[in-house]
Amino acid sequence: MTRNKSFLKEIDHSKDDLLELIEQALWFKKLKKERTKHNYLEGLNIALIFEKTSTRTRSAFTVAGQDLGMNVTYLASDDIQLGKKESVIDTAKVLGSMFDGIEYRGFKQESAEFLAAYSGVPVWNGLTDDWHPTQMIADFMTIKELFGRLEGLTLVYLGDGRNNVASSLLVTSAILGINVMIIAPEELQPARSIVRIAKEHQTGGSIYITDDVSAVKNADILYTDVWVSMGEKVDFKDRIDLLLPYQINSNLLAQVTNPNAVVLHCLPAFHDTNTEIGKQIYDQYGYKELEITDEVFQQHSSSIFQEAENRLHSIKAIMYHSLKNL
Ligand code: CP
Ligand code: NVA
Repeated sequence: MTRNKSFLKEIDHSKDDLLELIEQALWFKKLKKERTKHNYLEGLNIALIFEKTSTRTRSAFTVAGQDLGMNVTYLASDDIQLGKKESVIDTAKVLGSMFDGIEYRGFKQESAEFLAAYSGVPVWNGLTDDWHPTQMIADFMTIKELFGRLEGLTLVYLGDGRNNVASSLLVTSAILGINVMIIAPEELQPARSIVRIAKEHQTGGSIYITDDVSAVKNADILYTDVWVSMGEKVDFKDRIDLLLPYQINSNLLAQVTNPNAVVLHCLPAFHDTNTEIGKQIYDQYGYKELEITDEVFQQHSSSIFQEAENRLHSIKAIMYHSLKNL
């Protein structure tokens, strides 16, 4: 496998590397279900830095680190000097002298890259404005579990085609040689630079970007994400108006030819009013559900929560690969 010990973005890794991580994640899932101890990295220390909020990624890094026998330290970005009183580079040097690995979730991709370059230890990107690579291993692991294969499948992403998850899905599908389609209004279609990156790393399959929702008929996997990402400063109402035609709902699902098509969502999802923001949107604009209707979310909750659980097993595989030869 690659000599690249950090996990910063998908294009740093080959198709074989990504497939190996998926297999390793499936193996760790089996060990966990059997309750077979796998504290292979006992005594190591890792730091988790979160500049943005998180439930899945933070929990997955914490439990995966502990299951592997490591000591896990959470460094809330408000409590450390990072970026405010101390540069990312100086912080990287300090953390690298004390920890064996660092998870970083934040805004700039550059910060993740600097941490990796100057800490001298593996750095794992837990999401930046640009990419969400650890999510990808969980997602394609889930697809492998659900279909028994990856080859020949078509993944259709609907919604904000410019966000981190859309970019990661586009590029990862291309690397893995899976057909990928982004259905989004023109304003929110992937940037040309991202499509170019995907094409440069494509090993097979097709890439198709359109604003035509009827293209969804080809989907084996339907995927969506929130319409406004963390840190984005946009008018919520404008975004809703733009993306409502791209909502995953029962009418849209009825157009899909494959009766065994699955729905995935990286979560969190706005499918009801049981959240502060969901309630606020309902009170202000009258929408009870955004990127996915509650009906579809509940119908497909088994695959969606399987995907969430797989964050644990896949992050474990990613950290194990980075640190196993220490
Ligand atoms: N999917 C995902 O990254 O979830 P969190 O934001 O809760 O970590
Ligand atoms: N695109 C979303 C993903 C959350 C996991 C965000 O960045 O907020």
